[in-house]
Amino acid sequence: MINVWVIQGPNLNLLGQRERQHYGEQTLTELHSHLQEKGLEWGLKVTPYQSNHEGELIDRIHLAGTKADYIVINPGALTHYSYALRDAIASIVIPTIEVHLSAIHARESFRSVSVIAPVCRGQISGFGLMSYEMALYTIAQERK
Ligand code: DQA
Repeated sequence: MINVWVIQGPNLNLLGQRERQHYGEQTLTELHSHLQEKGLEWGLKVTPYQSNHEGELIDRIHLAGTKADYIVINPGALTHYSYALRDAIASIVIPTIEVHLSAIHARESFRSVSVIAPVCRGQISGFGLMSYEMALYTIAQERK
């Protein structure tokens, strides 16, 4: 089984209640269960994690670097300004895929900047839950 750690940043614990026009109706627990099911279908062990704290996310990325095969990360608003998160991703050797529920390039201009993207394998944004699913599918195909 390929180990995929899904890492969720600030405010994503409020999925289902928060700005539903952008982030949908699904809760984070529902999203994670769905990803774990899909993952199993595709030979991936999906381990979800969420934190509202930058330092905890950095610790998680470091740990993933020693325990996981891939990271799928939605850094929330940290996407747009956290050089510390970017450096953490750059410090590990496993590939990271950046995902977003909403279409970050079609919203406020500050959201179209990602300081994370340059250290990631790729970025998938704008497809809700499917953004994560596409990332998992890509990993499954890549590791076939
Ligand atoms: C988000 C987009 C970010 O701009 C925002 O701050 C979030 C969620 C998304 O998944 O669309 O918290 O990463």
